[in-house]
Amino acid sequence: MARGLSLRPATPGDRPALWRIHSRSVEALCEGAYSPREIQTWVELLRPEGYLRPEQPRTVLVAERGRHLVGFGQLDAFLGELEALYVVPEEAGCGVGSVLLASLEELAWRAGARGMSLDASLNAERFYQARGYVRLHAARRILTSEVQLACVRMRKQRPVPPLRLGERRGDSFTSPRPEP
Ligand SMILES: CC(C)(COP(=O)(O)OP(=O)(O)OC[C@H]1O[C@@H](n2cnc3c(N)ncnc32)[C@H](O)[C@@H]1OP(=O)(O)O)[C@@H](O)C(=O)NCCC(=O)NCCS
Repeated sequence: MARGLSLRPATPGDRPALWRIHSRSVEALCEGAYSPREIQTWVELLRPEGYLRPEQPRTVLVAERGRHLVGFGQLDAFLGELEALYVVPEEAGCGVGSVLLASLEELAWRAGARGMSLDASLNAERFYQARGYVRLHAARRILTSEVQLACVRMRKQRPVPPLRLGERRGDSFTSPRPEP
């Protein structure tokens, strides 16, 4: 894990911090990929109460460095959908996003997801590609009737676990039971 970084599940008390991280990350890190109007609309739609909504159960992990929250990621583990991954601008490129992503993937695999899908912001496509995600097609995230964000639909298959010594792929499912 990146030095000095720890992860934990988000709690309702984190809502204001999640909102601040999300807004600052979009404003500073998505700037080159989207127009000022798109960024402004995106940020204006964010609300502290929009995170950890009780009627919408999600896995949300926060990354802390010391006592500071420096990033978060949100996963629908049931669908295998990564819904958010945001890092504060001053920590970009320091490994926070990679650590969060790896942990959320692990949780998705453990929940039985066969793959992880996401709509990548244009600025983040290379980040996901370098971590095993493949581009499926161009997509759009509708913000308002007038503003839609171009993004990229991507997917990563769950890695096949390594075979143990003497085991053949499919053995556990296809071998006939020994006769009594
Ligand atoms: C994309 C993002 C989550 C990556 O997190 P991170 O902590 O900066 O990433 P890491 O330090 O673990 O890895 C750095 C990698 O991200 C890439 N990267 C993407 N945007 C970057 C940025 N603004 N600054 C530095 N690196 C960036 C680097 O090219 C590097 O790739 P490499 O390791 O394959 O060479 C983060 O930059 C971010 O929050 N971006 C804005 C929000 C966003 O677009 N989120 C994705 C929504 S789908």
